[in-house]
Amino acid sequence: MIDRHLLESQLAAERATYAERTPRSRELFDAADHLFGRVPMTWMNKWSGGYPLYLATARGNRITDVDGHEYVDFALGDTGAMAGHSPAPTVEAVRQRIEVEGGITAMMPTAEAEWVAADLARRFGLPLWSFALTATDANRWALRLARMLTGRDKVLAFSYCYHGSVDETFVITGDEGQARLREGNVGAPVPIELTTRVAEFNDIDSVEHALAHGDVAVVIAEPALTNIGIVLPEPGFLEQLREACDRHGTLLLIDETHTISAGPGGCTRAWDLRPDIVVIGKSIGGGVPSGAYGISQELANAVEDHPDADLIDVGGVGGTLAGNALSVAAMRATLGEVLTDAAFEHMIALGTRFAKGVQSVLDRHDVPWSVSQLGARAEYRFAQPAPRTGSQSAAAHDDDIEEYLHLFMANRGVLMTPFHNMALMCPDTTAADVDLHTTLFEEAVSRTTS
Ligand SMILES: Cc1ncc(COP(=O)(O)O)c(C=O)c1O
Repeated sequence: MIDRHLLESQLAAERATYAERTPRSRELFDAADHLFGRVPMTWMNKWSGGYPLYLATARGNRITDVDGHEYVDFALGDTGAMAGHSPAPTVEAVRQRIEVEGGITAMMPTAEAEWVAADLARRFGLPLWSFALTATDANRWALRLARMLTGRDKVLAFSYCYHGSVDETFVITGDEGQARLREGNVGAPVPIELTTRVAEFNDIDSVEHALAHGDVAVVIAEPALTNIGIVLPEPGFLEQLREACDRHGTLLLIDETHTISAGPGGCTRAWDLRPDIVVIGKSIGGGVPSGAYGISQELANAVEDHPDADLIDVGGVGGTLAGNALSVAAMRATLGEVLTDAAFEHMIALGTRFAKGVQSVLDRHDVPWSVSQLGARAEYRFAQPAPRTGSQSAAAHDDDIEEYLHLFMANRGVLMTPFHNMALMCPDTTAADVDLHTTLFEEAVSRTTS
């Protein structure tokens, strides 16, 4: 059992150590008078310790901060660097594009784009692809297509899901099962109930209830929730979801941005899912902004036949820099040479090793937490058994334990993902890196249990 008094004193000690170890990061943060929130993007304040570590260099799964400390990186830019930092084939392809060929962005296609689309089709099973620079944009554009094709105005999203800054998806279940705006949402454009119906993950009755209104264009779903801890689907849930969508004339969008950890074609391929639309972002450009959505032939035909679809001007789908030559070159190299089938085998084996290591510590110390694995990704949650819905997982959140564990790790050279207790394996991660985490996790837990 976690002893709250011990936790308090250990957390104070870790905060002090963090401050002693990272004076240069502190100095840069204090001097950032012209940055809103003192950081280039406000989420960067999520790192524990009161200010973020400043990046000096990064290669593979190693990061060095501006105070000269090296870290084993399990955060990997919250999946943006799943291919490892600056993977050599991606760097080479980017250099070739920028230095040798020239032309970073020209609003013109490059020859490599078809290879990338064909590879995404091979991985995820959908035949036709279009590119974006973020998963957020890919989701937004795909939702627009779905609304237009079905002639319906609502989206169904799962409570506590996250799909990027997509207005329709900042939703939780209200007291009477209605869609409620998620707390903290900044400047919502319209009341969420105008755009969204909500359901609980793993609760097919709540899905049926929402779809029965007959106004849902598309269900947007991660095949396992990953942004409120990992919530794995229970056996049969995703099949029931597909079947319910078919019966209600609703499309199914699977967002694989994080769940690509399950394998080269994400959960879609690993679990034989049949989405109408797949969205993928973050990892596929090796860190260079890249995203994509894939659609079925049937959907593509319907869009082409639609009398009012303006897809080549200001219809709300697409962006000036999307599919640019640099992004496409980075995707070509990353998908072709870094995030390969063989790399996934290595990463998933390490994900298993990580989850087993954590579980063995929890068992030895009789701590009522759980660890969930999704291929190359694993996450611990402060509840046992593992939560089965987003709402249950949200209730298991514990700020103090999370900050303590993050700081304990960072102070000893291991980075965990700030928004999660998540560890992601990349092609450069080794068994020794995973074992270092297990050893530190055991030490952190034993210092706070009585
Ligand atoms: C499942 C999922 N989809 C989409 C996004 C949005 O990605 P981005 O912020 O790169 O647009 C995220 C970000 O965390 C995500 O987890």
